[in-house]
Amino acid sequence: MEEEVRERSIPDEEVVRFAGLIKDETLRMKVLGLIEDPSVLIEGEVYHGLPLKESPAAKVHHHAYPSGLVEHMVSVATFSLTLCDVVQRVYSAEVNRDIVIAAALIHDIMKPLTYSQTEDRYGMSPLGERVDHLTLAVSELIHRGFPLEVIHAVAAHHGKGGPTYPRTVEALICNLADTADANLNGEILNAAKWAMKDCLGEEIHRLTAGEAFSIVRARQKKGCIGVVEAVKQMRPKAKKDKI
Ligand SMILES: [Fe+2]
Ligand SMILES: [Fe+2]
Repeated sequence: MEEEVRERSIPDEEVVRFAGLIKDETLRMKVLGLIEDPSVLIEGEVYHGLPLKESPAAKVHHHAYPSGLVEHMVSVATFSLTLCDVVQRVYSAEVNRDIVIAAALIHDIMKPLTYSQTEDRYGMSPLGERVDHLTLAVSELIHRGFPLEVIHAVAAHHGKGGPTYPRTVEALICNLADTADANLNGEILNAAKWAMKDCLGEEIHRLTAGEAFSIVRARQKKGCIGVVEAVKQMRPKAKKDKI
């Protein structure tokens, strides 16, 4: 059976470090179990999707490159813990950090199952065409016995655009952190693509956020010369997307 021969995905060590901050051992083990084996069983068939370490977090707008999902998980967890500090220190309010960290890490954990990939583009897998990542995550969390408060925070992470509005502090933090990171990533990619279009007339294939930050900084410091130098330095033989 495919399940027996397939190696478990090895999560990024930053993801594991964040999971290690969850104090409740039962919840921590459930989160680690899901990160190591993000799969679902439907009608006797196990769906695994892209390896977690290779998956993007979206097809086009943000984190649309290999390892984009792991970056997004780490970034949302980081934003979330900062928001926990604000809630506790500025507003003197209560927040359950275990729930926040768990939901921040696993909110998009089913995305790899919804994607397919070719050399040139990401598309939808047959499973992803039929069930969205949020529905898959919620049903799998219920199946694996996750606490209701984690299930709610995951169910509500799309905020007003999702099926459930955030009703708890923990869910609101995850929704805000998710939105902040998607916007940060998406907008720096847009800014770098604009600079490349303006200076080179073309874009780098699957530009990463790290590259985008470098290109935007290079443009700020040296204009188009800086952009040309930065692109040559980061990808001497880069595959280009014509605009
Ligand atoms: Fe999502
Ligand atoms: Fe997300």
